[in-house]
Amino acid sequence: MSEPAGFLNAFAHALTVMTLYPDGHPSRERAVDAAYEALESLAAASDKPSFTFLEQEVVYGRQPLRDLKEWEWGRRLVAAGVERLEFERRVSHDEFVGFLHEILARLTLSAIDTGENRQMSSLGVRFGAVGLEGETGAETAPLAVATLDLTLGEEADTLRWLQHQVRAQGTVPLLEAEAVVRSLSVAMHGDRRIMLPLLQLKEFDEYTTTHSLNVSVLAMGLAESLGYHAREVRAFGVAGLLHDIGKIRIPIEVLTKPGKLTDEERAVMNRHPADGARIILQSDEDLDLAAIVAYEHHVMLNGGGYPALHYSRSCAMASRLVHVCDVYDALRTKRPYRDAWPSEKAVAYLEERAGLEFDPDLVAAFVRMLRQGEAQIRVLGDDMPAGG
Ligand SMILES: [Fe+2]
Ligand SMILES: [Fe+2]
Repeated sequence: MSEPAGFLNAFAHALTVMTLYPDGHPSRERAVDAAYEALESLAAASDKPSFTFLEQEVVYGRQPLRDLKEWEWGRRLVAAGVERLEFERRVSHDEFVGFLHEILARLTLSAIDTGENRQMSSLGVRFGAVGLEGETGAETAPLAVATLDLTLGEEADTLRWLQHQVRAQGTVPLLEAEAVVRSLSVAMHGDRRIMLPLLQLKEFDEYTTTHSLNVSVLAMGLAESLGYHAREVRAFGVAGLLHDIGKIRIPIEVLTKPGKLTDEERAVMNRHPADGARIILQSDEDLDLAAIVAYEHHVMLNGGGYPALHYSRSCAMASRLVHVCDVYDALRTKRPYRDAWPSEKAVAYLEERAGLEFDPDLVAAFVRMLRQGEAQIRVLGDDMPAGG
C-alpha cells in the first residue's frame, strides 16, 4: 500500500478506536501513535501532504489514490464537512491528538443528521496553516411578513428552570433544552412564515436568559437562511441556547457590574466558555456541538478573543455563526454600562469587523437575513421593533 493510503488507514483506525475506548486506554494510545508515525513518515517523504476527499475517491495532492477507491471513510469525512486536509508543516504529537479530537467531534456532530441529505457541509477544518475553504453560499429564503403575537414567557421560565438545574446538578437537562428550542422554532414559523421573536431585556440579572433565547432564535434563523436542514437548525438552536451556560459560575455582581471589570473579574468572566463546555460535555454525549460552540463562541476569526486555542485553526461553523448572533444581540441590548445600540449601529459594527473578528460570509448572510426580515423581528413585551 502506498504511504499516503497507509496514513489514511491508520488515521481512520485511530478515529474508530477513539470512539471505542476512553482516554488513556492502551489500544487507543497505540492506534494514535501508529497514525502519528504514519504521518511522520509521509511528511518526511513529501512536502506539505494534502488530501481531498470526494464521494467516490481520495486524491493525494493531485493524484487519485487507487487503493482507496470507494473508501468508506472518505464519504464519512465529507459528510462531516471535512473535504480537505492539508498539513502545511510538521505537527507535534500533541497537536495531532488535538486534531483527531476535533475530527471526532465533527464526525459525532454529523451523526446528528440521520441520513437526510445535508444541503451544505461547510464545517471547514483548519489544522495549523492547513485549510479547507468551506462554502457559505446558499441563497437566503425570502421571509414573509408575520404578524404573530406571542410571548415567550414559558420558554423563558423553562430556561430559568434549566439554568437552576445546571446550578444545582452541574448538568444540562437535554430534553428540556430541546423542548425550548422546538418551541422557539414553532414561534419562528407561526403561520408557516418566518419571524424572529426577540425578547427585550427587563432586568439585568435576566440578561443570560433573554440573551440565550435571542441567540438561539437568531442562530436558527441564520442557519435556516443558509439552507441547513431542520435537524441541524435545531442543533444550532440548542448550541445558541446553551452558549453562555458557563456564566452560571460567575457571581451575579460581576455579571451585572456597571463599569469596567478589574483584571481579576475579567479573568473570572473569561472562564465561562471553558466552564460551559465542561458542563455541557458532562451532561450528554448528544451535546457535542453545543460544547464546541460554548468553548469557541468568543474566539475571533483572526485568532483573537478567548480562550486562546492551542493551535491555530478556524472554529467550527456553528461557533462562527453563534459568535455573530451573540455580538449582535449583546450590542442591541441595554447593559448596566451602556444603552442599547440601534440595530443599524450593531450591524455597522459587525460589518466593520467582518474578516477580522467575524466570518465575512456569515456577517453578509446575517445582514441579509435582518434586512429581509426587518418587518418580522419583534421585540416581545414591547411594541418597539428590534430594528429601532
Ligand atoms: Fe459568552
Ligand atoms: Fe453570549
